[in-house]
Formats: sequence, C-alpha cells, structure tokens
Amino acid sequence: MKLTVINGPNLNMLGIREPEIYGKGGYNLLCEKILEHGKRLGVQVEILQSNHEGDLVDMIQDCYQKVDGIIINPGAYTHTSIAILDAAKAVNLPMVEVHISDVSKREAFRQISYIRDACLKTIMGHGMDGYLEAMDYLVHEVNK
Ligand code: DQA
Repeated sequence: MKLTVINGPNLNMLGIREPEIYGKGGYNLLCEKILEHGKRLGVQVEILQSNHEGDLVDMIQDCYQKVDGIIINPGAYTHTSIAILDAAKAVNLPMVEVHISDVSKREAFRQISYIRDACLKTIMGHGMDGYLEAMDYLVHEVNK
C-alpha cells in the first residue's frame, strides 16, 4: 500500500513559525515521525511539500492511479483554493485533511475549508500526531 502526504505553504517552517500555535518540532521531525509510522504500518509513504498552489495541484494529479490514499494539509490554501479541491475531486482517492492546530477555534477566515468536501475525514488540533492518526485511518479504510 502506498500513501502520499502533501503539505502546503509554510509547513516547511514548522518549529520556526508561531511555535505557540504549531509547536517547537521542525519539519524534519514531522517527516521522520511519518516515515517511522509508515514502517510500523508496513506502508510506503512519500512526503511532499510546496509553497505554491499550482505545485500542490500537480502533486495531487500525480497521485492518480499511483497511490492508495492521500493525507493533505494545504495550509492557508485550505481556506482559499478551489483549484486544490478540484484536483482532489478529479483523482477521487481516499483523502484525509490534517491540520496541526485546531482551526475550528481560530480566526473566522479559517472556518472555511474547501478541501474538506473531497475528504473522508478531518483531523485537527492533534499536532504532528494528527498525520499518524490519518495514516492509521487510511490503512483501515483502504483495507476494509
Ligand atoms: C494549518 C492551519 C491553517 O489555517 C494555516 O494557514 C496553516 C497551517 C494547520 O496545520 O494548523 O498554514 O493548516
């Protein structure tokens, strides 16, 4: 089984950006945790990140017929990008939306999620562990 994890803008700045919201752990730590968890679950995992909307669309399109599920944290594009939603709908793969912070308790402009419409589940406010929970969920969904 193959999973792709796609991270959007500023997630490469984890550990540096607003640590009181996103925690002190860096992006490399996040990647290590995901890869270790992939080994535990016996799944192949590819982790991608871009600060650019079109790149994120390309990454989603590249998953078509190649992977079994996608975990996506589109960062701020969560709240603005119809293009990313359309790409997700186009590939029609099991997808989980992850946010490190609990966006439901934050600013009004973070209350809209376009990508949610294409996702089986949303995990928010669980820090980096949210990605691991999303992996568990997808393994369970795809194997059932
Ligand atoms: C985020 C929440 C978004 O609102 C924000 O723009 C991010 C990160 C999160 O993981 O909590 O960049 O997706």
